[in-house]
Amino acid sequence: MATVLTGGTVVNATGSSRADVRIEGEKITSIGVNLCREADQQIDVTGCYLFPGGIDPHTHFDLSVGATVTADNFESGTRAAAVGGTTTVIDFATQNKGETLAQAIANWHAKADGQSFIDYGFHIAISDLNQTVLDELSSIVEQCGVTSVKLYMAYKRVLQIDDGALLRTLQMAKELGVLVCVHAENGDVIDVLVEEAKALGHRAPKYHALTRPVAAEREAIHRAISLAEIADAPLYVVHVSSGEGLGVIRAARTRGLKIYGETCPQYLLLDDSRYEIDDFSAAKFVMSPPLRSPENNDQLWAGLRSGDLATVGSDHCSFNLAGQKELGRDDFSRIPNGGPGVENRFGLLYTYGVVAGKIDIHQFVDITSTNAAKLFGLYPQKGLIAPGSDADIVVWDPAAQPVISARTQKQRVDYNLYEGFRQQGIARHVFLRGRQIVRDGVVGDVPFGHYLKRQPHVVKESHQCSSSR
Ligand code: URP
Ligand code: ZN
Repeated sequence: MATVLTGGTVVNATGSSRADVRIEGEKITSIGVNLCREADQQIDVTGCYLFPGGIDPHTHFDLSVGATVTADNFESGTRAAAVGGTTTVIDFATQNKGETLAQAIANWHAKADGQSFIDYGFHIAISDLNQTVLDELSSIVEQCGVTSVKLYMAYKRVLQIDDGALLRTLQMAKELGVLVCVHAENGDVIDVLVEEAKALGHRAPKYHALTRPVAAEREAIHRAISLAEIADAPLYVVHVSSGEGLGVIRAARTRGLKIYGETCPQYLLLDDSRYEIDDFSAAKFVMSPPLRSPENNDQLWAGLRSGDLATVGSDHCSFNLAGQKELGRDDFSRIPNGGPGVENRFGLLYTYGVVAGKIDIHQFVDITSTNAAKLFGLYPQKGLIAPGSDADIVVWDPAAQPVISARTQKQRVDYNLYEGFRQQGIARHVFLRGRQIVRDGVVGDVPFGHYLKRQPHVVKESHQCSSSR
């Protein structure tokens, strides 16, 4: 059956045009004028934008952090993503100590398969790095289509790796076409600062932020980039929170290094005044890196405009305030780190980016979809509205004005970081590989999402991520 979306404006990273879009099966078959004669079904989308489905390259669904497990699993998390305009997530399949990478990926398939409302791929997050694990990397690329690895320079005694291990991984990854992603904060330094704060009797959530200074991020980004340079390997820095961290990335890119930065809506739109709330509810904002002072917001927007930051991920890692964040009521270092956001990433970037004039509508497509597809081996299957690409399309109605609230969200968590924020526009309809999964803002009941085997990362000569612009 062929469906034609008529009367909308197709927006890609490279340009936009008023055009009909014809979908047949899972693919877009043509884009042009008067295509409705070739349709079994016609949907009038006059006044709407047609965006490539959002790709969120940074989610943590169904993740155990020792004392507790994230509030959202694949079922609730991807349902929320769909309603917000995201049609693909790349989640972090996280290795438990002693496990092989194949076991970790099998665990993640058990969590996700048959549960997901949108398509999904996995990065492998390594917690136990040794030669056997490194030797396994080539088989997870070939057999599982997992072509990105995450390493943590923070979370000492839990996830943190040392510099030698990071260098060895970068060297191996380069050979295999694997993109190394780093959580760049200096975990040794943070560990000392946390112990000092606790010895002084500091217990409140704000000490989470005070013990993770910008310098600990800036230093770790600089070190990770230096190791990538030594290995001559590309590097993706996740959740960049500070202008100083961005400055290090910009300097490296200016020298031609293949360094890609990701930031998150919370670092663009929220700031460290949230930690000044005098009660424990400040724990909602406990995440790593923490929220920074307001001037960082503007610096990060500038990084998106210049292309030095390639993507915006949600870093969705949700814990209820009641019963989960509360584990750290008497000790900030026991508050589970992370916040929700997979549902809001796309709409926030449209509203506070495009409508507010901080980025243009094509940059919006790049940072919410196209660049992630290119970096993580999904392009042009995803991240593009063009004949032959998957029919992952968000019909965005720019006239609607919902207000974000935990009371109405699909995320299964008892708060929203952006409570009370007005959003301009909604995902009126969403198509996933040709199937309508959101109709008039309402998500369906059947989890149609497929696992995505991804292509190896290709190092481009140009250091601009968006090769097509
Ligand atoms: O606080 C955060 N960001 N939690 C999620 C895990 C990570 O560091 O990405
Ligand atoms: Zn992280």
